[in-house]
Amino acid sequence: MTSLKWRVGRVVVGAPGRNHRPVPDPSTDAPERRPPRTPRRWLRGALPVAVVLGVVAFGARRHLSVYAQRLDGQSCVGCHATENPRIIDQWVGSAHFTAGVGCAGCHGVDHDAMFAADGDVSPKVCAECHADEVTEFSRGAHARAERDARQADLFKAAPPEIQRQGCMLCHSIGKIFPDGSSGRCNHCHTGHRFSAAEARAPHACEGCHMGPDHPQIEAWNASKHGISFRALGDENTAPTCVGCHLGGEAGHDESANMTLGRGAAGAVLEGEPQAVPMKTLTQAEFTERRERMLALCRPCHGAKFARQALEDADLVKRAADALVAEAADILRSLAAEGVLAPMPEDRPAHPTAGHALVLGGAGLYTHTSAVEQRFFEMARFHHSITFKGAYHFSPDHTHWTGYAAMQGDLNFIRDEARRLRLEAARRPAAPGDREAAP
Ligand code: HEC
Ligand code: HEC
Ligand code: HEC
Ligand code: HEC
Ligand code: HEC
Ligand code: HEC
Ligand code: HEC
Ligand code: HEC
Repeated sequence: MTSLKWRVGRVVVGAPGRNHRPVPDPSTDAPERRPPRTPRRWLRGALPVAVVLGVVAFGARRHLSVYAQRLDGQSCVGCHATENPRIIDQWVGSAHFTAGVGCAGCHGVDHDAMFAADGDVSPKVCAECHADEVTEFSRGAHARAERDARQADLFKAAPPEIQRQGCMLCHSIGKIFPDGSSGRCNHCHTGHRFSAAEARAPHACEGCHMGPDHPQIEAWNASKHGISFRALGDENTAPTCVGCHLGGEAGHDESANMTLGRGAAGAVLEGEPQAVPMKTLTQAEFTERRERMLALCRPCHGAKFARQALEDADLVKRAADALVAEAADILRSLAAEGVLAPMPEDRPAHPTAGHALVLGGAGLYTHTSAVEQRFFEMARFHHSITFKGAYHFSPDHTHWTGYAAMQGDLNFIRDEARRLRLEAARRPAAPGDREAAP
């Protein structure tokens, strides 16, 4: 028997010596040039095939198991390939498919629960496999977006369909789920591709970071950074939104590098006066965060150049704040003198402030006077355009549509103040007033 004569590894199994090869028998064996079919040679040939088959089988096993995920005896994929074929295509093209993460990995196997959730999946579920990303995300402003909008007076004063379509389409990036987690992860990497590359593109931010109160995409588009990126498509030549705000050390926490520029109206250092309600931060926080941002400029810029660029933007922010403060003082005086028309007490109550004058963040655009409406546009739009334009290096936003427009607002507000005071002085005193006079 030759069956005992093959080697396993370095151990020789069976009789003759370790270098023994069977002597060919011309009567039964193939001609000399064809090697004899020993089990050892057979194994040598079969091994690679077996390895390939094994790898394929292992991969397929994972895919077969996701294809086999079932509900009431039928596979998710089977039904949904007919119901929503493009969802299946997107999933098949995703990293999840490759990694063997199936429908039930995110949705579970309870259709009633899925319907109750409108098919959405909470960050807590993603965290089962992506704990770091979810923890980072929960530190940033995105995770608070729904809560912040719901607390806003503008939200409380809006009809439900405007709340849903005019606020929550953007603010659902911080959607609050019944399990307590918050965030809609598919806002930047759309389901069911869940592609990291898609989220890196500036388009991923565009739908929300646009318009007169947060024109980041417009400003970036108009900056040298945006122009160069759009021309060359190279993140190593010019930075995209993600290059300065996400990824790297901060990961999914887009607030990690924010100082005076953060939030709707920006921030001031603790203790400094605020023209309208703003966020605050300590000098220590300022320094730490500014250094983190500057580190991101370094691959492309000198330290001095980058620092001066940001310090200049800080000066623009402070100049814009000063204009808002001047306008706010005029409005407060007009209210104190009782010459606003209508006065706050003569209009529907503000959701939280009642009949007091409200300026800035909580201010409304309904049932106000012309001068307050102009202040709303100044504080909400032109102030934002000026400093957000400066932090994104768009000269046009910083000057023409920002600073120049604020000066125009201030001219109008000063003029209106004169007119309102004149009008009040010319108005005949009310009969009650005459009787009260001595
Ligand atoms: C990585 C997690 C994940 C996986 C895996 C996943 N989904 Fe989803 N699915 C989501 C999220 C998040 C949403 C909500 C956002 C959306 O509509 O894309 C969703 C939404 C849906 C919806 C509702 C879509 C709509 O617009 O009405 C359906 C149907 C659905 N998934 C089916 C499936 C099926 C079938 C599979 C398996 C082929 C699957 N999902 C795999 C996360 C996942
Ligand atoms: C017997 C067929 C069938 C099976 C099996 C099935 N689904 Fe569905 N599923 C449906 C239909 C039909 C809808 C409703 C589609 C619609 O509204 O257009 C649906 C809806 C959904 C939704 C969206 C719910 C919403 O409120 O929008 C999700 C998510 C979903 N299925 C996931 C799954 C997952 C995960 C599995 C496997 C564990 C699965 N389905 C198995 C037929 C099926
Ligand atoms: C059962 C585990 C599991 C769950 C649940 C899960 N993922 Fe994944 N996800 C993976 C694996 C594995 C990969 C591939 C390896 C990697 O990149 O970490 C991946 C990759 C990704 C990627 C990178 C894709 C790319 O282009 O490189 C994104 C983005 C992602 N997941 C988002 C999500 C989101 C959002 C959710 C929740 C809605 C989710 N995942 C739920 C396991 C999971
Ligand atoms: C679906 C809408 C949406 C998308 C998409 C989106 N954001 Fe936001 N972002 C918001 C909202 C809403 C806020 C304000 C949240 C709050 O403060 O309550 C915000 C705030 C921010 C802030 C300010 C953080 C702070 O602390 O003030 C940065 C920076 C930011 N986003 C960067 C990005 C980048 C970069 C992208 C793209 C990769 C992006 N966002 C995509 C809605 C979005
Ligand atoms: C186009 C998307 C979009 C819409 C629509 C939208 N927001 Fe926002 N909102 C944002 C972004 C982006 C920010 C962050 C501003 C920034 O950092 O420049 C923000 C900031 C805010 C903030 C400030 C959070 C903070 O603490 O600084 C509040 C409050 C807010 N929005 C409420 C609302 C309300 C209420 C509505 C509807 C009446 C609304 N938003 C509509 C995108 C949107
Ligand atoms: C504001 C946009 C945005 C949101 C919202 C977002 N991501 Fe991401 N995500 C990104 C970007 C950008 C990348 C690519 C990062 C990179 O390549 O450095 C990414 C990459 C990933 C990856 C791949 C791993 C990696 O770091 O490359 C995973 C996993 C992931 N995200 C999970 C999530 C989860 C879970 C959520 C919800 C809690 C979420 N993402 C929400 C922008 C976002
Ligand atoms: C070259 C770096 C850089 C790029 C690229 C960049 N930003 Fe910024 N961004 C900044 C700086 C600097 C600030 C102000 C930081 C501070 O508070 O100190 C800022 C602030 C913000 C804020 C807070 C409000 C504001 O504008 O001051 C948001 C939101 C934001 N960026 C979103 C984006 C989006 C969306 C893109 C892409 C269209 C983008 N950024 C591109 C550097 C950048
Ligand atoms: C990936 C490379 C890259 C990064 C990162 C980067 N920049 Fe730039 N930046 C450029 C390029 C390229 C130009 C155009 C240079 C030229 O004109 O030759 C530029 C130009 C500028 C300009 C001049 C704008 C003008 O109109 O002349 C300023 C200011 C600037 N960057 C500030 C910053 C700051 C601050 C940071 C960090 C927060 C930063 N950049 C990060 C590549 C980068």
